[in-house]
Amino acid sequence: MFWTPLLLIVLILILCYHINHLLRDKKFDKIPGPKEIFLIGNGLDFLKDSVALFTYLRNLTHIYKDLCKLKIFYLKNILIYNPEDVETILTSTKYNEKGYLSYFLRPWLKDAILLSDGTKWHQRRKILTPAFHFNILRHFSTILVENSEKLVESLRPETDKSGTDIYPFIAGMTLNSISETAMGTSLDNETKDIGTKYKEAIHMLGTYLLYRVQRFWLHPQALFNLSPVGRSQKKLLKVISSFRDHVIKQRRENGTYKNLYTDVKDDDVVIGQSKRLAMLDLLLETEEKGKIDIEGINEEVDTFMFEGHDTTACVLQFAFMIIANHPEVQDKILEEYRHIFGTSNRKPTMSDLSEMKYLECCIKETLRLYPSVHFIIRYCKQKLKLKDYECPVGTDCVIFIFDLHRRSDQFVEPLKFRPERFQEEPTWPPFAYIPFSAGPRNCIGQKFAMMEMKLAISAVLQQYRLLPVTKPEDIVFITDIVLRPRDPIYVKFVKR
Ligand code: HEM
Ligand SMILES: *[C@@H]1O[C@H](CO)[C@@H](O)[C@H](O)[C@H]1NC(C)=O
Ligand SMILES: *[C@@H]1O[C@H](CO)[C@@H](O)[C@H](O)[C@H]1NC(C)=O
Ligand SMILES: *[C@@H]1O[C@H](CO)[C@@H](O)[C@H](O)[C@H]1NC(C)=O
Repeated sequence: MFWTPLLLIVLILILCYHINHLLRDKKFDKIPGPKEIFLIGNGLDFLKDSVALFTYLRNLTHIYKDLCKLKIFYLKNILIYNPEDVETILTSTKYNEKGYLSYFLRPWLKDAILLSDGTKWHQRRKILTPAFHFNILRHFSTILVENSEKLVESLRPETDKSGTDIYPFIAGMTLNSISETAMGTSLDNETKDIGTKYKEAIHMLGTYLLYRVQRFWLHPQALFNLSPVGRSQKKLLKVISSFRDHVIKQRRENGTYKNLYTDVKDDDVVIGQSKRLAMLDLLLETEEKGKIDIEGINEEVDTFMFEGHDTTACVLQFAFMIIANHPEVQDKILEEYRHIFGTSNRKPTMSDLSEMKYLECCIKETLRLYPSVHFIIRYCKQKLKLKDYECPVGTDCVIFIFDLHRRSDQFVEPLKFRPERFQEEPTWPPFAYIPFSAGPRNCIGQKFAMMEMKLAISAVLQQYRLLPVTKPEDIVFITDIVLRPRDPIYVKFVKR
């Protein structure tokens, strides 16, 4: 009788030992990294609050020079932040599958371009690429100009206050811009009530994502669905899909999309004209040709709404903060603007935008220090040979763009905001600076994002002088899918 429980314990221990042994991998074990605990790996470290977790990860990248491993319970991760290995991963077409994190996005974005792989991804990429062609972007610039003007207007009541939390203003602008360009519908307009609900739903979904990632017991879909947050997420997804369905239905019925994309030629686009194009039109056109179905359209529209607003909003809030803290930079941006426009108050054109070279350097430097997509993940379906190590099958390669951009062996005075470094030929290899990722799976919206940011910053600076309130050294980051500060960022606006 006495022996039975003891025997059971011994058996369990032996079983655990074998499971642990099965989960081990010699190649993986060779990679340097923090000490692991039996069965749990580094899982306990990962349960830190979102500020400590951010610091913990940065500490790792300081201790281990080029890469390190991190085992979160059963998940094997290799954290990579050196240009050579980043190049190996991103240039290969073999590693285009997204990692474990995409599992949490799937209930929302399904199998759209951002998450899909293989032929499906390839086909979608081919369909969507024309939406970002120069001539189409010219169409969109009208919408972006209007929204930057609206941003300027919305800031008017803020002038001369001791400081303004800028994020809500900027996020409102970027969400409306992407809504008008992707779906052809202004969230600020007739659908004001639905528009606000939709906006809130998208923001809430972002916060639920991190909540779930950190709580491993919510990882299994069935358990998550039962939890309060899981149920709430389901409701939010319904808000998003019903609004999106309504917009698509209207657009389809009105038939405004017919042949717009095939008709767009170099010379027939004048900025300010009223023929309004949306990315959705391209998808509807493709549907007529039988190359995409309604599920496909839905998931792509949702993906643009997700990828296309918060990424840009986060960069813009850091840009306003850092420009406010560098009056000499602010003056140079304004000087460039006045050189291009003189005393005219005409609306900016595509060629004006390409002349905003110094502003572009400022945005690039902001993206270096504050890359809103601060990490990306690739799953190793096949083993991957790195510079010094080998990633075994089944690991997630996490590329830390944030740490890559702050390497002192790649950038002179890496923590300093110095837009001038982008005025010269780069002194760093191409894969040391990848705010939009690189290779075949890079950001499809990068030109769009650059346009939007240039228009917003130049419009605001022209009307207001920015004075510093939040300083770069005050910023405490939290771990989230996009790079986010813990506390609101404040800037003071003074009428020029
Ligand atoms: C400053 C703003 C932006 C930044 C920093 C950014 C960054 C990135 C990065 C790093 C990736 C690679 C993701 C990965 O490999 O997992 C990506 C992919 C993507 N981005 Fe952006 N992005 C921005 C704005 C936008 C905008 C405005 C749009 C749409 C209008 C957009 C649409 C996409 C799409 C669809 C993908 C997936 C491409 C593919 O997998 O083939 N992005 N972005
Ligand atoms: C990171 O490192 C600093 C100093 O090296 C230490 O004080 C801090 O506790 C570490 N933070 C975490 C979360 O590990
Ligand atoms: C939004 O409303 C304004 C005026 O209320 C109008 O000029 C503009 O065309 C509308 N935009 C859209 C996309 O419906
Ligand atoms: C489509 O047409 C209907 C009625 O003609 C109109 O109410 C609606 O605003 C139009 N929608 C779009 C997206 O143009």
